[in-house]
Amino acid sequence: MSWPPPDRLMSSALRADTAAGTSPRQAARATVPRHRLVLLVLGGIGLILGTYTGLARAGIEHRFVAADLHGVIMVLGFLGTLIALERAVALGRAWGYLGPASSGGSVLVLVVSRPVGSVLLLAAGIVVSLTYVALLRRGHLDIHLVIMLLGALAWVGAAALWLAGAGPVHITPLLAGFLVLTIIGERLELSRLTLPSWSSRRRFLVLVGIFVLGIAIARWWREAGLLLGGLGLLGQVAWLLRYDVARRTIRRPGLPRFAAICLLGAYGWLAVSGVLWVAMGLGARGPLLHDALVHALFLGFVLSMVMGHAPIILPAVLRIPLVFLPIAYLPLALLHVSVAVRITADLAGSFWWRELALHGNVAALFAFVVLSVVAARRGRRQGSWMPASITQPGTTPVTSR
Ligand code: HEM
Repeated sequence: MSWPPPDRLMSSALRADTAAGTSPRQAARATVPRHRLVLLVLGGIGLILGTYTGLARAGIEHRFVAADLHGVIMVLGFLGTLIALERAVALGRAWGYLGPASSGGSVLVLVVSRPVGSVLLLAAGIVVSLTYVALLRRGHLDIHLVIMLLGALAWVGAAALWLAGAGPVHITPLLAGFLVLTIIGERLELSRLTLPSWSSRRRFLVLVGIFVLGIAIARWWREAGLLLGGLGLLGQVAWLLRYDVARRTIRRPGLPRFAAICLLGAYGWLAVSGVLWVAMGLGARGPLLHDALVHALFLGFVLSMVMGHAPIILPAVLRIPLVFLPIAYLPLALLHVSVAVRITADLAGSFWWRELALHGNVAALFAFVVLSVVAARRGRRQGSWMPASITQPGTTPVTSR
């Protein structure tokens, strides 16, 4: 099984575009592919609907009844569509777009027909899994692709259980598995890890295996599943903290430092979530403990990672260079502070403080989206391709002007 070699510093989506004969700089100047933009907009609708249902889930917004759609829409409708789109671009085959089209479409359909929407989500998960199989068949048995394939299979499992009538809490470990495994796989692919020894790589695979076993059994043996999943999470965080370049790139100014702060902050929240998985696995209970377990991972870890990777992934998908704006620290700080308040409120059982924190979470999310649009518009006006945008922050650029 091969490890991503150090020269593979571009996201696979960008590699696909450049392999198609377009240089990164030409790609940056090309028009935005309409179909990709439409799919991205569908994902954006998923974010809006996911936030709205989240507020309903917290009892703040009452007009929307289907509050239990929140987790599915946020994870599969919003982030799933973005991830499926990036994978389809990486594959470079028309059928790959069926994945983001189905998950993006499901966002609209779920509201009117849950069974049809659930079938679309299941179909999307299957297409994304097949995308990884196709990518694996193209080259080596890359470890990061195998890990991401496991993540896509967790998506399929969550969608199948949801279709069969399982409640939102029961599919949460699988939803977490989809995002954790995808992000960790992406991290391995993008990062110039200080290539660890074989025994260390084997240790990492064992930790991934423990986590996968935990999320796979959690639907039937909740405590055991959470305990194993939490131990797997904690082990993976320790491993990634040791080998991720972010610890070094944090000393470099500009985008590399910003991305490194996003990544290290994200690992911190993953560790917090891991501790909560273990605690709940051992029987700890509290009125808001599940909220803490869920959002330390989905908001603290996932969204911090999204903020750190957006300047790399979005240009590759949309062919729009993003200019790094130092004001990007504002939504990032708001995210981390509001998640910290939320988790503290959850642990203290304070609904009032949690409600306050929820508004901070929402503000951070939308500030990030607005800022990404501004950064893309600026980048497009300048017509420049920022080398740092397409490389792992802190490493030698793939192309330079
Ligand atoms: C931005 C504001 C958000 C609000 C107001 C919100 C609110 C909530 C609430 C109140 C719950 C129920 C927790 C419990 O069990 O007591 C919940 C659960 C959940 N949330 Fe969020 N959330 C937000 C963001 C997110 C994001 C960004 C994601 C994913 C990326 C996410 C994924 C989930 C999942 C998977 C669950 C568990 C399933 C469920 O109980 O519905 N949430 N959320």
